[in-house]
Amino acid sequence: MSSPTHIVIFGASGDLTKRKLLPALYALSCETLIADDVVIVGFARKEKSHEQFRTELGEAIKQHSRFKDKAEESGKCPWKTFAERVYYHKGDFANAEDYASLLKFLDSLPPKNTGPSNRLFYLATPPSVFSVIIQRLGGAGLVTKEANDDGWTRIIVEKPFGSDLETARILNEQIAAVFQEDQIYRIDHYLGKETVQNILVFRMSNGIFEPLWNNHYIDHVQITVAEPLGVEERGSYFEEAGILRDMIQSHVLQLLTLIAMEPPVAFEANAIRDEKVKVLHAIRPYSQTDVTDHVVRAQYVAKNIDGNAMVGYRQEPEVNPKSTTETFVAMRLDIDNWRWAGVPFYLRVGKRLAKRLTEVAIYFKHAPYALFRSAGCYTLEPNVLALRIQPNEGISLGFGSKAPGTTIRIDPVQMDFLYETSFQDAQPEAYERLLSDCLTGDSTLFARRDEIEHAWDLVTRILHVWNGIPRPQLPEYQSGSWGPDESDDLIRKDLRKWRKL
Ligand code: BG6
Repeated sequence: MSSPTHIVIFGASGDLTKRKLLPALYALSCETLIADDVVIVGFARKEKSHEQFRTELGEAIKQHSRFKDKAEESGKCPWKTFAERVYYHKGDFANAEDYASLLKFLDSLPPKNTGPSNRLFYLATPPSVFSVIIQRLGGAGLVTKEANDDGWTRIIVEKPFGSDLETARILNEQIAAVFQEDQIYRIDHYLGKETVQNILVFRMSNGIFEPLWNNHYIDHVQITVAEPLGVEERGSYFEEAGILRDMIQSHVLQLLTLIAMEPPVAFEANAIRDEKVKVLHAIRPYSQTDVTDHVVRAQYVAKNIDGNAMVGYRQEPEVNPKSTTETFVAMRLDIDNWRWAGVPFYLRVGKRLAKRLTEVAIYFKHAPYALFRSAGCYTLEPNVLALRIQPNEGISLGFGSKAPGTTIRIDPVQMDFLYETSFQDAQPEAYERLLSDCLTGDSTLFARRDEIEHAWDLVTRILHVWNGIPRPQLPEYQSGSWGPDESDDLIRKDLRKWRKL
């Protein structure tokens, strides 16, 4: 007999629940990708009735769901019908009694008399309360360690997972005291994006790329994650985090491992994650001098863009006017293994940059010599394979072509694949895929304990060096630019340049 599944969302009044989680669960239901006996329970501090909670979420669905057109009662997927499976439980994250009452409440939910149920706990709260929630869940007997025929228990932990290596290790210990590793789903929503999943498919399902995917043919790799937005209302979070923790430790290193990993022995969670961990392990650890030489940090300053006055980071709400938090990082990493030795990976990430764009660009080595020199063509552009993660999702390959005419002129041209034109189906949101995978027990797209700790190790080395600099002189960059001059210098000293995007 199958068991009903109760999804309990801690931090149910928060933005993530409204913008991402409920729209994702609702979409899965519209697409009949989750069973009818999946029940959602919001757990948060505010006093609220089930009905109030449903109404609030209904408003959120109208704004954020990709199925909002079908949510009307007359539509194909009425929100009202889905909302009957949504409940609210008021509770204080630290109060043990509120967890005892949660247990009772879950047991009272329909369908009754079906025996034990599956339980998925989602930590969508600020990270400061992760530990206490985990301890209370264990203490209240809400967690069954061994899955059996009657049901399973799983937990999804939002990012940031710790704030350095030590805090990540402590959090891992605390979770491991209550859950087993295969019950723990550390989320990184980048892994749920179609284009990120496609990195492995592109590399491993096409015979022509993998033979070239190494230091014999690749000169270097550039990973860019650019956002035009500033920190907006997340100033107090960002002050503590900075972009190194916020983006590099998680999303960017995930992209890098997928690009650099060896083919796994199976398309299966642990086989894939084993290979990703090996990449992190092979990244050359930074010495103090390496951090100074290979990592640039900077902060955005005010600029007038198209008549709109963009404030600088230090003028953003809840930001210290003397803040030294970085909003931009450019860095060079080296992977010391057989495949990648001598191929630098350049990463650049920033808020308030020129445009929204996430891309991985593989720069191939030049053709061995300029055959066409005698015809006046002295330099050839390198072939660049660009994996566009977002927007304009797709892949392009740049190569040189003879420009039509009576003389030899070689111009760069592009072969381009666009998801939008090749696939008619709308891409599911990352959270849809990730929630669906967790419900089916597939942790391939979630970070394993050792993966998280290796990523933090790299980032923590940089943080230690930075923390030792009493009054850092942060380079500045203008809002709407591609970062500070120091970022160009970083790559220029290796006789390379950032890709024009
Ligand atoms: C989040 C970061 O994890 O990812 C944000 O905390 C960032 O600072 C966001 O803006 C980017 O996600 P996406 O999916 O919009 O690229």
